[in-house]
Amino acid sequence: MIILGIETSCDETGIAVVEKKTDNSLHLLSNIVASSLSKHAKTGGIIPEVAAREQVKVILPVLAEALKEGLSYELGEKNPPSIDAIAVTYGPGLIGSLLVGVETAKTLSLLWKKSLIPINHMHGHFYANWIEHDNISLPAIILIVSGGHTDLLLMKNHKDISVIGGTRDDAAGEAFDKIGRLLNLPYPAGPIIAHLAESGDPQKFLFPRPMLSSDNFDFSFSGLKTSVFNFIKKNRWDFTDETFVQAHKKLQNDLAASVQEAIIDVLVKKTILAAKKYNVNSIILGGGVSANKRLRSQLSHEIKNLNLEAVVYAPSPQLCTDNGAMIAAAGFFAAPVLWKSVTADPELSYYRE
Ligand code: KG4
Ligand code: ZN
Repeated sequence: MIILGIETSCDETGIAVVEKKTDNSLHLLSNIVASSLSKHAKTGGIIPEVAAREQVKVILPVLAEALKEGLSYELGEKNPPSIDAIAVTYGPGLIGSLLVGVETAKTLSLLWKKSLIPINHMHGHFYANWIEHDNISLPAIILIVSGGHTDLLLMKNHKDISVIGGTRDDAAGEAFDKIGRLLNLPYPAGPIIAHLAESGDPQKFLFPRPMLSSDNFDFSFSGLKTSVFNFIKKNRWDFTDETFVQAHKKLQNDLAASVQEAIIDVLVKKTILAAKKYNVNSIILGGGVSANKRLRSQLSHEIKNLNLEAVVYAPSPQLCTDNGAMIAAAGFFAAPVLWKSVTADPELSYYRE
């Protein structure tokens, strides 16, 4: 079975062709991603109107490339490509961006007479793991960490997935990005902070670990941002001054490492608390922040320390951020619907299928 996956919920236009072999393993035939991220770097965040216009511009070229690379199919050929279904993200996300993917998918479904599978973007983030591993044992705890989400889910089986905790304010990626602004780093700051942190001392500055000891699976990151802001102000450090930055490289590295450690500490502790409580076989990561090497290594390290049996899964870095392959992968676990019934839903929650 072959699924064409379409993802346009934010600033990435991702289209992929994924095949499920008879042994149930998934294979990437193509996975093309175009991003308007560079257009948002200077503004410190995504401008929805700019993201939507870029989606419109690139969706057909990305589609053409994905079909050519995956199936040697030329867009515009008389016969439809040899796919079985089209899976598309219908929420949550930015409405202008979502509409581009949803309307394209509906049109192709109608034109090629292929079934249409609506996919929740957040489900795509964790199903990305099934592209590289076909024997993930359930139940599992899922940690979704992206620019807009920090959620802990309990997955008993593919039909029974429940949210057990989440952030009360900023998401983990948002915390990286907002603190990055305090260090005058471009958006998205997460990967840059991770890179700077590699040469820094994570114990140099002790920033707060909000809700670390609370007896639930919720997170809160806005206090950390305020604490870093006050600390920089108190010391009169000016990261907008290039001469200051050049003279204080070590300080920047130590700050990045200490901030990263504070965020990761909470993510790791809460995830392990949940894994123990529900006695799961697997811990599954998903979302942009799950590309963070320190998060992956600290989680595995703690699991080993505690002698837990759970196996940790995280997608390859290119499958952590938004892409069409994760949507196609989720499509193999969801049901097709009538094309007419699919509408973009920017506020879609985990529960509504
Ligand atoms: O999942 P994603 O691509 O988009 C959303 O759906 O939000 O996640 C983007 C987020 C950004 O906040 C970015 O700073 C963060 O993921 N991010 C990272 C890393 N790579 C991306 N944060 C920390 N470490 C990284 N290596
Ligand atoms: Zn995402």
